[in-house]
Amino acid sequence: MEPSVIRAFMGIDLSPEIQRCLEQVTIQLKNRLEGIPVRWVPAENIHLTLKFLGDVSLVNLEMLKKLLKSVVPPHPSFEISAGGLGAFPKVHHPRVIWIGLEVPTELIAIQHSIEIETARLGYSREERPFSPHLTLGRVSRNANQADIHELGEVLDTFKVGFLGATRVREIHLYRSDLKPGGAVYTRIYSVPLEGVS
Ligand code: 2AM
Repeated sequence: MEPSVIRAFMGIDLSPEIQRCLEQVTIQLKNRLEGIPVRWVPAENIHLTLKFLGDVSLVNLEMLKKLLKSVVPPHPSFEISAGGLGAFPKVHHPRVIWIGLEVPTELIAIQHSIEIETARLGYSREERPFSPHLTLGRVSRNANQADIHELGEVLDTFKVGFLGATRVREIHLYRSDLKPGGAVYTRIYSVPLEGVS
């Protein structure tokens, strides 16, 4: 039986070329960090999250589709570029390991509108400022002090340059299914930016 709610988020996909670069960075980091418990994100799952919604009822799903349809199309398509390694909350105390993204003001405006409009539907507002990033891995709660220290040292010295740029043509609504083997993300609705047929 289909569930009455689905876990959902809005975001942007990357090009296969950038995904391949991200995969290479992950392989190199995994080698440097052998034995340190990090849950690495498979390259095909890496995306830019614009808004994490959590559980969404089927009725709200339709409203969220309408919301995207009204917010996205006036904005022209744009480019984003990936590069640089970092961590939240900070490199020497890493919880989330990421690759940075340079994005134009166009995307900041879209994200801002999505934040405001989803809040009007009752979704909680993100208190932290929008910080465009691609999550490569999440440090496990089992990591001990020594692991965290070593991670910080490696992240501090490991250099990642420019990985590539890609044109963004659509914003997607994704469904996230949490499976024993990891999250499975499926695009369930897509809205093209202006000028994209
Ligand atoms: P992140 O990559 O910035 O960590 C799908 O689960 C996406 O939603 C994740 O990639 C994650 O973005 C984002 N997200 C934000 N808040 C979340 C939360 N509380 N639980 C799960 N995912 C969240």
